[in-house]
Amino acid sequence: MPALVLLGAQWGDEGKGKATDLLGGSVDYVVRYQGGNNAGHTVVVGDQKYALHLLPSGILSPGCTPVIGNGVVVDPAVLLSELSGLNERGVDTSKLLLSGNAHLITPYHTTVDKVTERFLGSRKIGTTGRGIGPTYADKINRVGIRVQDLYDESILTQKVEAALDFKNQILAKLYNRRAIEAGAIVEELLTYAEQIKPYVADTTLILNNAIDEGKVVLFEGGQGTLLDVDHGTYPFVTSSNPTAGGACTGAGVGPTKISRVIGILKAYTTRVGAGPFPTELFDKDGEALRTIGGERGVTTGRDRRCGWFDAVIARYATRVNGLTDFFLTKLDVLTGWEQIPVCVAYEIDGKRVEELPYSQSDFHHAKPIYEMLPGWSEDITKAKTFSDLPKNAQAYVKALEEMSGAPISAIGVGPGRTETIEINSFLS
Ligand code: GDP
Ligand code: IMO
Ligand code: MG
Repeated sequence: MPALVLLGAQWGDEGKGKATDLLGGSVDYVVRYQGGNNAGHTVVVGDQKYALHLLPSGILSPGCTPVIGNGVVVDPAVLLSELSGLNERGVDTSKLLLSGNAHLITPYHTTVDKVTERFLGSRKIGTTGRGIGPTYADKINRVGIRVQDLYDESILTQKVEAALDFKNQILAKLYNRRAIEAGAIVEELLTYAEQIKPYVADTTLILNNAIDEGKVVLFEGGQGTLLDVDHGTYPFVTSSNPTAGGACTGAGVGPTKISRVIGILKAYTTRVGAGPFPTELFDKDGEALRTIGGERGVTTGRDRRCGWFDAVIARYATRVNGLTDFFLTKLDVLTGWEQIPVCVAYEIDGKRVEELPYSQSDFHHAKPIYEMLPGWSEDITKAKTFSDLPKNAQAYVKALEEMSGAPISAIGVGPGRTETIEINSFLS
């Protein structure tokens, strides 16, 4: 089992941090391959809770080497403050590797992110305001700044000037904002250069060698399938590819090297920010899911929108990622409902539709068709094996598995590392 991908099967916040941390003790490398500090991954170890944004969740496992791949966008100030925050709590972060090809988020990217959202008004995406979209836009536009540029002042200055030439026109003329001075940006970036240098490495070479030597490499996705810029609910998406293919481009590893793709799937659905969400609830059930599930954003503190499980989405995630199996999280949150609705298909313009429509206009007015599954009232947080679960909880899991198109290999019954039922080993 040399290389596996672990990614979100819905709209993010499925519990990827917990799942990655759980495997971290048995893998050699954990690699972030896309996104940046828009992510908020929670890991609970004993009575300690960690919120990771940019660093891979494997950083909390002493034997594991955490890697930030070329596909990630890196805010150097956030990187250094996240590292020092962990150091203060006694976590050794010295093994971190950072790709020299990763693009840098600079203050002008966060400014453009926020100003663009304001300009969009009611049509805004509801971004995290961390500069993610503008940084990826510059990368594709070939005016981005990479980690390696920090080590050549003259190149760095030329690149920052080139990027700001155009941006300042827009900021001043369109958004009525003050132009940003290139010299000040270069100066700020250079203050990070030496502190970051020990981590900078040729991560693609290191990871490919590791896989060839039979080491276990885990690719940890940020966000989720439906936030993917190609396969998600565009334009209400993030600006990278959290789907499985993103692991290859975002880390420089070929698809032939990856043998397992695990989808992290919440037992209900949540979403942060704007965009369509067919099973969203606006009633007391939605409020109960939010309260019991603690559904508040780790990065922005926004309340998450909550709704019932959507099997159409899960099937879609299986398809576009080639999922081999699922890790079902937060089953414990559903304890106490007499009946639990599950969306099995949509009704669109009077017709029953089983698969996610490619047309966003259709998806915007898809109405969920629910099947009611019997609930359970017993506390399941102490369950260690599948047979410890009440019969109705077992049937709920089995029904989700059947509808979602891939086996469920583990079930989360609480936030802690040990609150997990493992059905099939992830590493065999
Ligand atoms: P991520 O972004 O996918 O890593 O997920 P987040 O950390 O943003 O949100 C998931 C939340 O659910 C966190 O607060 C986790 O501690 C918590 N969590 C993860 N798995 C479980 C579970 O099985 N049960 C419960 N009750 N909470 C869980
Ligand atoms: P994790 O990794 C949930 C959402 C934002 C917004 C859209 C675009 O914790 O699952 P961006 O700042 O990326 O340009 O915002 O994507 N979003 C997330 N939603 N979990 C995340 O990360 C998210 N990262 C971005 O709310 O709707
Ligand atoms: Mg999160």
